[in-house]
Amino acid sequence: MVVLKALRPAICCSSSIFDGGPLEPVDKASFVMFPFPASSLSMRLRRGNNAKLSLVQATEESSMPIATDPAAAISGENPHQIATNGKATNIVWHKSSIGKLNRQELLQQKGCVIWITGLSGSGKSTLACALCHALYSRGKLAYVLDGDNVRHGLNCDLSFKAEDRAENIRRIGEVAKLFADAGIICIASVISPYRKDRDASRALLPEGDFIEVFMNVSLQICEARDPKGLYKLARAGKIKGFTGIDDPYEPPLNCQLELPQKGNICASPCEMAETVISYLEEKGPSKRLVVSEVGSVILRGRNEDALKVATLV
Ligand code: ADX
Repeated sequence: MVVLKALRPAICCSSSIFDGGPLEPVDKASFVMFPFPASSLSMRLRRGNNAKLSLVQATEESSMPIATDPAAAISGENPHQIATNGKATNIVWHKSSIGKLNRQELLQQKGCVIWITGLSGSGKSTLACALCHALYSRGKLAYVLDGDNVRHGLNCDLSFKAEDRAENIRRIGEVAKLFADAGIICIASVISPYRKDRDASRALLPEGDFIEVFMNVSLQICEARDPKGLYKLARAGKIKGFTGIDDPYEPPLNCQLELPQKGNICASPCEMAETVISYLEEKGPSKRLVVSEVGSVILRGRNEDALKVATLV
């Protein structure tokens, strides 16, 4: 009998930054998503752990970078695939025996990127923190990449010129991809004003693993809030190229979520975080397995109403 048991730490925390008071542990086995197709699962179960590892390796192989060195490709002599990627020449991808699927299984969650975009003052960071907190209270590991924070370190060499903003987003997109590969729910909270830069970050991930959330709050409201006093400085000409004032913001055309939802302009950060979590639970990646506490596996397809339950024997 093979028993897969969802590990759900009893997490109970409180934070003064939230109005809602102490958070209770949520007793719910949902939002545990593995991307194994059903057929792979039964293979894994029949053959035991060794088969499971080799399956994982084979799956990861398909997402390996493809060699771009024609000489190596043609001769077929080199067992390693030597690649050139941008200015990085003669590089070889090194594969680990522990892959994304192993990490996801360990964490009992699926790594993905939740990309929150919007004007300064639209509430991106507040939502990111609320979401991180709500996930934490469910025993889910998330990490926030906040634009302001990342510019304190990794991106402190970048200005707000268009090309530097593009590089800012490229780096955050790549880091977010690594977090997702680690099995973590990565919440990127960045203005990311240009559509093409956001789309490039989306293209780094498998379809469905990049969830774009648009904080659709008008310039008028953001400027009235002006939490950091930066709009005032921009209007006075003391900050040049400020997003929304004298630098453009291109709203998403096909985002997964727009917040606050229409007709709900008063939604609190906690309510918006719940909306994002509902989205993840309902419309996450195309196939997922939900492992219940009694060792059953529930297979759920994107548009399937019925849940099929298979007991692991
Ligand atoms: S982005 O445009 O490159 O995506 P990012 O999210 O990293 O921006 O940083 C935005 C933060 O930088 C804002 O919240 C604000 O505090 C600060 N900031 C400083 N100068 C500017 C500017 N010219 N435009 C927008 N935000 C700015």
